[in-house]
Amino acid sequence: MRHKHSDYMHWSKTQSHARFNLATSGVAPCPVCELPIDLKELEINGDNNYGYPPLQQAIAAHHGVDPECVVESAGTSMANHLAMAAIIEPGDEVLIEHPAYGPILDVAHYLQANVKRFRRAEENGWAIDPAELRRRITPKTRLIVITNLHNPTSVLTSDPVLREIGDMAGSVGALALVDEVYLDAVYENTPRTAFRLGSEFVVTSSLTKVYGVSGLRCGWILAQPDLAGKMRRLNDLYSATPVFPGELLSVAAFTKLNLLRERARRIVETDRKLFHDFLAEQSNLCAVSTSWGTTSFPRLLNGNTDAFLKRLRSEFDTSAVPGRFFEMPDHFRIGMGVNTEMFAEGLNQLSRALILFDEHAI
Ligand SMILES: Cc1ncc(COP(=O)(O)O)c(C=O)c1O
Repeated sequence: MRHKHSDYMHWSKTQSHARFNLATSGVAPCPVCELPIDLKELEINGDNNYGYPPLQQAIAAHHGVDPECVVESAGTSMANHLAMAAIIEPGDEVLIEHPAYGPILDVAHYLQANVKRFRRAEENGWAIDPAELRRRITPKTRLIVITNLHNPTSVLTSDPVLREIGDMAGSVGALALVDEVYLDAVYENTPRTAFRLGSEFVVTSSLTKVYGVSGLRCGWILAQPDLAGKMRRLNDLYSATPVFPGELLSVAAFTKLNLLRERARRIVETDRKLFHDFLAEQSNLCAVSTSWGTTSFPRLLNGNTDAFLKRLRSEFDTSAVPGRFFEMPDHFRIGMGVNTEMFAEGLNQLSRALILFDEHAI
């Protein structure tokens, strides 16, 4: 039987809710009244067969790329699906980072790829080690897949390492897919898209995580024009046209992108400081810290993390994402940037649960 589901996505939709929700990955929602659009101007139908040109231009301008290279998609989820489905055939070798965002693996398995992994080691700060990648890549590799920032750890991959990855992919005729949905959560010296580094790169992203407008489902792929065309044709199988009112609102969001980002930045940065202070006081937790991103991936040093998280949710009304969804069962992911009061109280509950857990170790 072909793989046809995502355990992580199902858990996230049905089990992650709690009063103190640390299982998030995106920033606080932006209300529609904050977008510079008169709702009377909203239209239901429009000229958007293969995407709405003003939106494609806005995405292209955001990245400094040709609009021909932009493929609109329903969020980064559909972007990843379309990108992988257009590139790989059943049985093709695909090299995916470990730990990985579950749905990326799920899509690769659904597409019947021959999935191989390369390790991002915690002892190496979760960085991509090009030597490790070199050991894993083969002449059969068709695609290398990474996230930048890395989900779950928020670790940034530098341009020189990205270039090495691109060169390695190019040397065997493969492509490198970089999911950049969190990249704009590097608030200082924000890196430019990997797409600009060479024709081996295909990039996916969206406005869903860093800008607070997830419900617009404004996502996209950056690919060379031929491949971009294939992706648009493939998308014909899934959705005749995009949702036009969503595209109009997304164009409005693009005119105010910096403001949307700054609005969330304050919350993300305050939460991060709280989290660093919290970590410094914990003897049963360790984490690789970053100065950016909306998530962190601490490890419980002693005890069973799944059991701990179950208690945390049932007794302390606080949720975090179990590391098993990233194939790292001793870790868990926490999210920043939604609401500092809630975050602070969530950390407080986490502290209390850790003390109790220490006393009655499971
Ligand atoms: C790395 C990564 N890619 C894609 C997605 C899906 O994003 P979207 O909501 O834009 O579909 C997520 C969501 O958590 C993610 O973490």
